[in-house]
Amino acid sequence: MRLLVTGAAGFLGSHLCERLLNDGHEVIGLDNLYTGRRRNLASFSTRDEFTFLLHDVTFPIYLEVDGIFNLACPASPIHYQRNPVQTIKTSVHGAINLLGLAKRTGAKFLQASTSEIYGDPTCSPQEESYWGNVNPIGPRACYDEGKRAAETLTTDYSRQYGLDVRIARIFNTYGPRMAPNDGRVVSNFIVQALSGNPITIYGDGNQTRSFCHVDDLIDGLVRLFFHTTAPGPVNLGNPEEVSIRELAGEIISMTGSQSQIVSVDIPVDDPKQRRPDISKAEELLGWRPRISRSQGLSVTVDYFRDLSH
Ligand SMILES: NC(=O)c1ccc[n+]([C@@H]2O[C@H](COP(=O)([O-])OP(=O)(O)OC[C@H]3O[C@@H](n4cnc5c(N)ncnc54)[C@H](O)[C@@H]3O)[C@@H](O)[C@H]2O)c1
Repeated sequence: MRLLVTGAAGFLGSHLCERLLNDGHEVIGLDNLYTGRRRNLASFSTRDEFTFLLHDVTFPIYLEVDGIFNLACPASPIHYQRNPVQTIKTSVHGAINLLGLAKRTGAKFLQASTSEIYGDPTCSPQEESYWGNVNPIGPRACYDEGKRAAETLTTDYSRQYGLDVRIARIFNTYGPRMAPNDGRVVSNFIVQALSGNPITIYGDGNQTRSFCHVDDLIDGLVRLFFHTTAPGPVNLGNPEEVSIRELAGEIISMTGSQSQIVSVDIPVDDPKQRRPDISKAEELLGWRPRISRSQGLSVTVDYFRDLSH
């Protein structure tokens, strides 16, 4: 198939392009390089089946494609809060432009959504049927509400025009090609541990997250896209929950670091708990994460070690 991946130069987008190329597809990778880096494309950018397009999804684009993976959007708070209006435009105008392209070409469409649409959840684990607890005017709203609107648009284009759509609700994912300075917890802790700087946890560090290795996540996205029926939103993530303090300890012992753990103020609307219910993905796609946190973290530590040399 001829597949368009938006957000191609980002962390997840670059792994997705590589996987799709390895599966024998032709891939057009589109990105405005806001948080993405050309370096992420280096291992496959010269392949004949790959084309890179420098473009911003808030503007329409005309291409002939069979499928679209819409991943374009800054995903870490420091980037998505730097220009909140552009963030929500990226989710909303981006979805409108790419769903318009899917409508014109008859392409299958996958929207990369997020566990953030559940906000600070009042139940755990979060099932797809949970509607969420989001502050619509808080500092995270540009991202959370933008993604919720993108889900609405994706569903309405399908209901109204019969588009074949998929919605992946992605939970925290980590691995090689994460940007070292974007404030995400795994990359933050590894960079701090490797440099011997204090490891900064928000508050007491008892808040929990569930971390999925990127290879598992990409496999879930591909399975969802190629699944024959459209199942509505599907959670993709690793259900193994860990407290932030525990994670910091694991990274310190894995890197042999002398770093101390220090506590800083907890950001506004920071969720206390995050854990996916992945029964739907298991039943429908036969998918569940295979890579343990210790295996995944060790590969990621190696990546950041190489970067620092
Ligand atoms: N990594 C995670 O843990 C996670 C979790 C939930 C959801 N997601 C979603 O997955 C997608 C990819 O996330 P990521 O972790 O790879 O983030 P990332 O920041 O590494 O990648 C996002 C990419 O989108 C590009 N981009 C941003 N605005 C754009 C625009 N207007 N036009 C074109 N390109 C634009 C950036 O330059 C970047 O390359 C995002 O939609 C994100 O919301 C990621």
